[in-house]
Amino acid sequence: MSDFGTLLPPPPAERRGIPLYYDKSEDETRQDVYERYDELVARQTALHLADESHGGYPLQPLADYVRKWLPPSPTAAVADLGCSVGRLIGDIATDHPAWDCYGIDFSYQMLRQAQDYWVKGDTVSANLLRYGYTHDTFSGKQLPNLRFALADAATLPFPDASLDVLLNTFLIDRIPDPFQAFAEWKRVLRPGGRLITVSPLNFLKREQWERYYPPVKLIDRLLRDAWQLVDLTDPLYVEEPMDKRGNAIRWRTLALVAER
Ligand SMILES: C[S@@+](CC[C@H](N)C(=O)[O-])C[C@H]1O[C@@H](n2cnc3c(N)ncnc32)[C@H](O)[C@@H]1O
Repeated sequence: MSDFGTLLPPPPAERRGIPLYYDKSEDETRQDVYERYDELVARQTALHLADESHGGYPLQPLADYVRKWLPPSPTAAVADLGCSVGRLIGDIATDHPAWDCYGIDFSYQMLRQAQDYWVKGDTVSANLLRYGYTHDTFSGKQLPNLRFALADAATLPFPDASLDVLLNTFLIDRIPDPFQAFAEWKRVLRPGGRLITVSPLNFLKREQWERYYPPVKLIDRLLRDAWQLVDLTDPLYVEEPMDKRGNAIRWRTLALVAER
């Protein structure tokens, strides 16, 4: 029988050991770019697991920001929403073996890569040769305190007031309604629990730009919903390498920490 950890309820469905809390239709799967294994999963693998190709972890400034705001508690329940191939939550689970860690994503293909690498300890592969990189296999870990699950970040399977930390990076501009997500994140965090959000606010639709930009609109919403703002860093620059040549995207992210 699969083990979904202490916080996740029995899922309505499960695939290859990954609990599925959202019934994704074939159409939704087809339209979701993050389900494209050879494109988006390969890119996320290149970015998050191929340190050797880059001479280090390219998103270290992002990881440092998250680490700086983790609580100093001996035990904690932590979830990363939109975790993709699981790098940030995998590193947190490695650094804190007594913490109960969860990686949530809406893409089954991302989660499969994450689960194989971080939980099963498999060697995973991704075709990175087209970016000029040589390494294309990565040997995984077997972390007993980390679980992955498919769910919508705005409708989480966690019980009320169950998490100490909820983090998400490069997610809020990809979800339809960040305000609705904020309410859901407040529900699952325990009082005093921490939300860590980093996003370039690179919205995809005109209505999102109108409703959620500039950042003061997001911050105002958090304050009106009685979150306590602990940190606001704008900009936090994060560079995403594109290829061996050194072409890169420089993301101008907004980073914030708020307590419930
Ligand atoms: C741009 S990637 C960011 C991945 C990683 N967090 C990072 O910082 O590089 C966005 C991720 O969020 C996931 N995602 C998009 N919409 C989501 C939703 N509604 N709920 C959960 N995950 C979602 C995607 O499948 C993808 O893995």
